[in-house]
Amino acid sequence: MPNRPLNVGLVGGGRGAFIVHPHQKAIHFDGTRRVVAGALFPDPKIALEEAAAWPYPIKGYGSYDEMITANKSLPEGEKLDYILIVTPNFVHHDPAMKAMKAGIAVFCEKPLCLNLDEATELVKTARELNVPFGVAHTYLGHWTSRLSRYIVRSGLLGDVRWVDSYYIQGWLATKLEDTGQQQATWRVDPKRAGGSGCGGDIGTHALMQLRYVTGLEVAELSAHLETFVAGRQLDDHFTIYCKLSNGGKALVRASQICIGHKNDLGIEIAGTKGTLVWRQEDPESIAIHLPGQPDRVYWRGAVTPGDGFLPKDVPADLMAEPTIPPGHPEAFHDAFARLHRCFEVDVRKWKAGQKFASDGSKYASVEDGWTGIAFIETCVASSKQKGAWTAMPKRA
Ligand SMILES: NC(=O)c1ccc[n+]([C@@H]2O[C@H](COP(=O)([O-])OP(=O)(O)OC[C@H]3O[C@@H](n4cnc5c(N)ncnc54)[C@H](O)[C@@H]3O)[C@@H](O)[C@H]2O)c1
Repeated sequence: MPNRPLNVGLVGGGRGAFIVHPHQKAIHFDGTRRVVAGALFPDPKIALEEAAAWPYPIKGYGSYDEMITANKSLPEGEKLDYILIVTPNFVHHDPAMKAMKAGIAVFCEKPLCLNLDEATELVKTARELNVPFGVAHTYLGHWTSRLSRYIVRSGLLGDVRWVDSYYIQGWLATKLEDTGQQQATWRVDPKRAGGSGCGGDIGTHALMQLRYVTGLEVAELSAHLETFVAGRQLDDHFTIYCKLSNGGKALVRASQICIGHKNDLGIEIAGTKGTLVWRQEDPESIAIHLPGQPDRVYWRGAVTPGDGFLPKDVPADLMAEPTIPPGHPEAFHDAFARLHRCFEVDVRKWKAGQKFASDGSKYASVEDGWTGIAFIETCVASSKQKGAWTAMPKRA
């Protein structure tokens, strides 16, 4: 395809929306992608007003149906290359299906959708139509997540025995939804959020971090979904004990009622040879603990292959991924940018008729999204039976 920036269309993002903004900054990060259009709000009139008031010129549409239909008659260089879906969970499946059928790639927020039927249809369609599909599990985009994945998957910590993967927040410790707070109101509503509140919202991030870094799957789980704030329908505290595919064990836990915790996502992986510790609120380094040795801290961009722990042949593409020198901190927006940058590579290959990977190594795939939904449904079922050990369904 000609050397022009990719054209991105937004689904959602008007009137006080949150996650569209880190995304739209990340889309523009490299100059090789740009937001050109948006269906920003469910009410068509407000959608157009919001587009007209967007901080830079974009083409506004009254609905995502209109945006996807109009795309067919645009000149080649103006067509959308991908859409970004940043709506509440109940508005993920429909625009994603319609975009894929119209030949537009999809980058979708997590959790992938509302239930396993929707998720299975998305996987099937993405495969049949051979369309790039990414899911926005932000924290995979930290370089330290990439390095952690390399360290654990190449066996440097030995066999994984135990993983504690968590995402702890405190913002829903009171009944914030009763104040009309936008992000709270739909997250506590099963029709708009799905079968689990806290688990679907942030437990899926903790699961994804575990799977991405270790390469292990949850085979069986015993779940406790709890609701501490009276009158809330969905869980606000989510504790899942897991048997992993290698025989190891894990805790995948999330909470939104732990006052003081902000976006405390982290992972600890204990292997037979050592332990890795990482926290996203301090995302520039990981700690490695080896028996009988001083603790090691690896900073993004400042690692030396062949240092006595890392081998000499650390992959060149991993070493090249940092964008700025260590000590100039990367964080949340950079992680989003890394995901969009990697998604762009696949979209460009697809447009050029080449094979593309979408294999979950650079950003979460639609299959990863499916696994997140399968995990949530299995947790809900187990929790209803007082934490009975329940097997995860087979991958779509
Ligand atoms: N990856 C992450 O780190 C992360 C962080 C926050 C939220 N999220 C996910 O992003 C999604 C959005 O969350 P948020 O917190 O930004 O929500 P939000 O309520 O702040 O924004 C949602 C936006 O979607 C719009 N919308 C709703 N229905 C629409 C429709 N039919 N057509 C067009 N626009 C519509 C709303 O008007 C609003 O602009 C959710 O799926 C959430 O789970 C992910």
